[in-house]
Formats: sequence, structure tokens, C-alpha cells
Amino acid sequence: MQLFPKELSDKLQARRENNAFRVLKPQAEAIDFVSNDYLGFATHKNIYTNASEKVKSFVFRNGSTGSRLISGTHVLHEQVESELAQIHNSPSALLFNSGYDANVGLFSAILQKGATVLYDELIHASIRDGIRLSNAKSFKFKHNDLSDLQKKFSKCTGTVYIAVEAVYSMDGDSAPLKELASFSAENHCYLIVDEAHSNGVFGVKGTGLVQALALEKHIFARVHTFGKALGCHGAVVLGSQELRDYLVNFSRSFIYTTAASLHSIAVIQAAYQELNNTNAIAKLKTNIDFFKETLCKQNLQASFIESNSPIQSCLFPGNSNVKEVAIQLLKKGFATKAILAPTVPQGQERLRICLHSYNTFEQIETLLMQLAIFVGK
Ligand SMILES: Cc1ncc(COP(=O)(O)O)c(C=O)c1O
Repeated sequence: MQLFPKELSDKLQARRENNAFRVLKPQAEAIDFVSNDYLGFATHKNIYTNASEKVKSFVFRNGSTGSRLISGTHVLHEQVESELAQIHNSPSALLFNSGYDANVGLFSAILQKGATVLYDELIHASIRDGIRLSNAKSFKFKHNDLSDLQKKFSKCTGTVYIAVEAVYSMDGDSAPLKELASFSAENHCYLIVDEAHSNGVFGVKGTGLVQALALEKHIFARVHTFGKALGCHGAVVLGSQELRDYLVNFSRSFIYTTAASLHSIAVIQAAYQELNNTNAIAKLKTNIDFFKETLCKQNLQASFIESNSPIQSCLFPGNSNVKEVAIQLLKKGFATKAILAPTVPQGQERLRICLHSYNTFEQIETLLMQLAIFVGK
């Protein structure tokens, strides 16, 4: 017997042949246009020190010792949940160990047999996986297309949920949240918004796009993750107290896993405290504006997907093509990310550039000058 089944080897081989084989490697030393650390919080000294001091003030503990429903709930978990509910203007908040866990646990738990979920075709894999774990019907609608949403809505039965992202992770554009909230209200749908890439970036003190648009009361559930602008790890589901109770009782990725350690929770708390004082959000916005102005000056905007967020994507169709651009830019000292098919549809492979508060104008100008060499080739 072979030690590895042939059908699995064949799949790996197909990945190699499509130039889409994934490998792990530590991030190269280069100017950061790749990480999700939009505000530089992952290496922020005050956050580090405040979190460490907080942990020291509790009984010495390395791990949480159990799942939240057994021995893993500490007063700090509950304290941070109530702070997050307040900050995000929500009746309740429930922490999950990651955004992936939050989406899988939320969607798989709420979607009952007979219900339907409508989701944007660019929705994140974690939401798709949550939907796949449920017995509900699901239809995708064209990206940000309300008339297609209306069309797909006519096929729905039972309770209808709509799933979108405040900022799409690969395109960087935003869902039309106001229109979606009106549509949901008119048609009695439950709207769910993933704020992974808008948390810490949009809204007063980075509270997200839903709050920037004052739509909190129109949203059934919001998912905010902490692995991007907050520079740490974990996620929170925001919604009614009944939703929180429901998830504590039925969400399997919440129930059947060890609770996050106190250190993780203390870092989340310290990162939110820093959001109150920081000028990094304003700096990030200045950099996004400067990047877009420079795109126009260099006549590059036609190759980019329109976006007002830190995620700026330049289309380079073909896996080998876009990989080569990323390699060449790295040789010049710029870390960017080639996004390949099947992560994005074939023909829409792109170079994903993430902007940060700590990038300088000079770095942005030089990156775009280097990129211009490849655009249109
Ligand atoms: C839109 C979106 N939702 C959820 C997640 C998952 O979050 P986490 O990295 O915390 O698991 C990501 C991360 O890639 C994301 O981009």
C-alpha cells in the first residue's frame, strides 16, 4: 500500500502543473505591502506592555484550561465582551478564537433546514464553509449587484439571510450596506456583515463600516476579526442577546474548543484601547488617498480594482504572470502578494497590495513606478 493515496497525490500534481502549488515560507525582509497589519499594531509597544501588565495582574495562568462552557471562561473574557458590545454599539458580543471559527460557527448554527442564505459571490471561504455545514439552501448573487440579489431572492423559501463583507478581502471594495439594509428591511431578510477588513479602518475610532453608516440596528449579526488592523488574533460576533445565547448553545466552533488564553484576550483589550488614542487610522487614510492620487498620475488606475480601502489589487491575468511580477518586486525590496486561481477566478489573478499607516509616500511612489514597468506588458 502506498503511504499517501494516489488521488491526493494527483491533486497535488495538478496544483503544480497549474502553477498554483502553495508553500509556506517566513516573510522576507522587505517593505511591507503585504501584511494585514494595517495600523502597525502587531508590533506596537504600548499594546504589548499593557497586555503583559494586565495578564500579570491576574493569577498566573498560561492557558485557559478548558472550553468556555467548562472551565475556560475567565472574568477577563466577560469584561472584554461587554467592552466590545459597548464600543460597537451592540446589545451583546461573543468572542471566538478566530474569524474563521466565528463565521463557521455562526453560519452553521443559524442556518436551519428550510431556510435560505444569499451570499455575495466574493464572500470569504469561512462563510462558505459555514454554509456548507448547514442544511439550508444557498444561492450566490453577483458581486455587489442588487438586481441579481433581487432575482435570486425570488427563489428563496423560509427564513432568508444575506451575507456580505464590509470590505472584500481580495478586491478591497465595499458592499452597498445602506441599500442592502433597506432591501433586507423591505423583504424581511436577516443581514450579516463580515467586518474583518473594515474593523480598525473605517468609522469613528475604527469601529467599522456599519457604525460609520449608523446601520447597527439593521444588522442581524456583525463579525469583527482582530487579526488584521488590530494586529492580534480572534474575533467577535455582535448582535442581540438572543443571538449570543443561541450561539453559546448551538455554535459548535464556539462550544467544542479551548477558550482563548488570557494573554490573547488582554492583547485584544489593549489594541482597542490604542484605537482610542492612535493617529494611525488617519495616517492610513492619508496613505490610501496618496496611493490613489499616484495611480491617477501614473495612469495606472485602469489596471486596478476600484477601492477606498487599504486593499488595492492590480489585475495580471495568469498565475505565472502575476507570480513573476511579485518575484520581481521582491527583488526590488517590496513585499506584495500574488493572488492566484483558484483563490480568485481564472483570468482575475492579481497582485494584492496592502497599505499601512507606516508606509511612506516615497515607498508608495517607488512601488508604483516599479509596478508600471509590468502593467500593460
Ligand atoms: C473577510 C474575512 N472574514 C474572515 C476571515 C478569517 O479571519 P481570521 O483570520 O481571524 O480567521 C478573513 C481572513 O482572512 C477574512 O478576510
